[in-house]
Amino acid sequence: MESVALTTERLILRAPTEADIDAIADACRDPEIPRWTTVPNPYTREDAEEFVRHVAGWWADGSEVVWGMYAGEELVGMIGLHNIATHFTGASAELGYWVTAGARGKGYLTEAGRAVIDWGFAELGLVRIRWQAVAGNVPSARAARTLGFRYEGLQRHALTSQRGRDDGWIAGLLPTDDRTPVDWPVLSPADPE
Ligand SMILES: CC(C)(COP(=O)(O)OP(=O)(O)OC[C@H]1O[C@@H](n2cnc3c(N)ncnc32)[C@H](O)[C@@H]1OP(=O)(O)O)[C@@H](O)C(=O)NCCC(=O)NCCS
Repeated sequence: MESVALTTERLILRAPTEADIDAIADACRDPEIPRWTTVPNPYTREDAEEFVRHVAGWWADGSEVVWGMYAGEELVGMIGLHNIATHFTGASAELGYWVTAGARGKGYLTEAGRAVIDWGFAELGLVRIRWQAVAGNVPSARAARTLGFRYEGLQRHALTSQRGRDDGWIAGLLPTDDRTPVDWPVLSPADPE
């Protein structure tokens, strides 16, 4: 499939290119990213080059769809639907993301996430989107809750990475779900609207 660009109020989402390699490498050197994700640590320029090559291949074979998040020309994050798995019962995928250290807390992730989720349900026909995170990743969980995900449980020692094995929080979103945030047992209650 050809890569697709999405536009939100403040962001453009498009597949990252070679021009983004240094910005991706800089972003992934922030310790909060290897702390919670599976990016290599330490993160080299070659890792970013390989990532950009992989993203092009994933779009081409439809196995994953990944967008850089841009505020103007600045790369402020990365978001994707990963491990797109098609069964006779319909396709599912996992939402993954990071935001650069300097761009956090501005609502960029939730803004991009809404566009990616809408696109995944409408264009890929997903019947379920999964979210999972290392247990304790409160910012990511809050973002997922705000996007409408429902908490589904704790998976003991389910997540593997360079760090070893971590317990994982898992949540899910169906196309028919009302996306109004609901309370999660592992988070303090959502602020009332
Ligand atoms: C998780 C992450 C992508 C959120 O990005 P962001 O652009 O700051 O998110 P937003 O501004 O859209 O905010 C989303 C929610 O996170 C909350 N949040 C953001 N930073 C937070 C922090 N340091 N502590 C607690 N909550 C935080 C926001 O308050 C918001 O929750 P709310 O809607 O209940 O108010 C970002 O913190 C990050 O890149 N973390 C490191 C990588 C990572 O953990 N990726 C996810 C792996 S599963």
